[in-house]
Amino acid sequence: RNRSIGRAHSKLILIGEHAVVYGQPAIALPFPTLTVTCAVEEIDTGIYIESNLYAGPIEQIPERLKGLATCIRATLQEINKHYKGFLLKIDSKIPIGRGLGSSAAIAVAIVRSLYQFFKCDLSGSKLRELVTIAETYAHGNPSGIDMESVVQDEPIWFEREKGIESVTIQSPFYLVVADTGRAGDTRSAVASIKENIDKSPLETNQSIDKIGQYTYEARQALLQGNLNQLGNLLNLAQTELDKLGVSDKGINHLVDVARSAGAFGAKLTGGGRGGCIIALAENNVQAKEICQHLNQNGAVSTWSFKVEETQKY
Ligand code: PMV
Repeated sequence: RNRSIGRAHSKLILIGEHAVVYGQPAIALPFPTLTVTCAVEEIDTGIYIESNLYAGPIEQIPERLKGLATCIRATLQEINKHYKGFLLKIDSKIPIGRGLGSSAAIAVAIVRSLYQFFKCDLSGSKLRELVTIAETYAHGNPSGIDMESVVQDEPIWFEREKGIESVTIQSPFYLVVADTGRAGDTRSAVASIKENIDKSPLETNQSIDKIGQYTYEARQALLQGNLNQLGNLLNLAQTELDKLGVSDKGINHLVDVARSAGAFGAKLTGGGRGGCIIALAENNVQAKEICQHLNQNGAVSTWSFKVEETQKY
């Protein structure tokens, strides 16, 4: 039978999350270690989903996955070709709710698989439009950074309304990712910052502006290959995220562990209130050592990977 596979990788926000919702820049990186695939197969009738989150007909998809169902329907409508029915087998290695962009990655893999099935060209803008449908359900008020960083294979500089720019990485480094084992709730974290802006606008906006400033400085540090400075900036951003109320005890603990184990800097990544932290290391040996300390001190999973220098043209 005719069968097609769509793929997407996960993402990490290096710096700038939450402030990015308010127009500040953020830097995101592809996280190639964790990926999702969607295999589509034509069947006689109906649309069925098979995944570790849900298996069954699209009509009975649970409320929290409704965005994906809407995205699938919108994609088929957009492609506008005859079909009998489909089985979509989604296989995601990306833990959900950890700030790794799992919802955007699943949607990207689904849209790519369906376009590939019908051998239709998929433009970048159409992909974004269709994935936004799913992301709006998952997030409420998504800045769009999740989707952009999942679509792109390079580090990105992202500003809401302005779109993306490339980021130059002068010298390679290692990132450690550690999972608190608890799902965060990006939607409520974003909503709580909105409430804080209404209640205490001065402090809240100050933190948002500072995170924006650190993000500009981080871009410079990447350009100069200055890991010490980059590490400092990650730490400073973490302080502000904590003030904003989107960090928590478990995150702060892992951040402390990573720093004690020699990381240049560490912070939460993504929505916070659970989810993952990232830590900056110079080389593989150091990254592995930080992973080991994190594993022994409460992290449920750890990964480390090399962020390559960007190609010079
Ligand atoms: O999906 P997450 O948890 O990686 O969060 C995305 C980043 C936020 O800035 C917290 C929200 C957004 O829409 O930009």
